[in-house]
Amino acid sequence: MDTADSFQVVCLDTSHYDEIMALWRRAGLHIRPEGRDSVEAFTRQMRTGVQTPIGLRAGALLVAVALATHDSRKGWINRLAVDPDYRRRGLATRLIGLCEAHFQAQGIDIWAALIEEWNQASLALFHSAGYALTNDITYASKRSHAGV
Ligand SMILES: CC(C)(COP(=O)(O)OP(=O)(O)OC[C@H]1O[C@@H](n2cnc3c(N)ncnc32)[C@H](O)[C@@H]1OP(=O)(O)O)[C@@H](O)C(=O)NCCC(=O)NCCS
Repeated sequence: MDTADSFQVVCLDTSHYDEIMALWRRAGLHIRPEGRDSVEAFTRQMRTGVQTPIGLRAGALLVAVALATHDSRKGWINRLAVDPDYRRRGLATRLIGLCEAHFQAQGIDIWAALIEEWNQASLALFHSAGYALTNDITYASKRSHAGV
């Protein structure tokens, strides 16, 4: 079996939107195709310069992706997903490491992810990658309209 290091690292952009969406769907990620994951929103987010999608390819196929974003204080790992056929090979761990290196290169030394409580795989992943899991914080969010 190929090790995580043998997959090709790719920096992605708006031209890769369709394959990123296809991977998120294969991975069963809860996405907002009419809202913040629409092609218009994705294009706008890319223009900000603070969103860097990083992927891993097996040959031509995109098999893992994460959106590295930052708010100038913290680096955020968003929409991390691995193709079901390529899981438990260290791909997500490798992507987390790539995101961390990306943030560090910009002088951002604290890295974070929002993980839903039911998502035991993701909680175990971030724990194994050295992240402290805190359950005494409540996520407060507000939307200007539904679906975003
Ligand atoms: C969560 C996810 C990204 C993990 O990807 P992955 O490439 O399989 O993860 P890794 O191989 O790097 O796993 C590293 C470690 O995390 C833990 N882990 C990963 N998946 C796990 C699972 N399903 N159950 C328990 N522990 C798990 C293990 O400790 C694992 O090490 P091990 O395989 O040596 O036991 C993948 O399952 C996925 O895409 N899920 C759907 C999308 C999602 O929930 N994304 C996260 C949003 S916050």
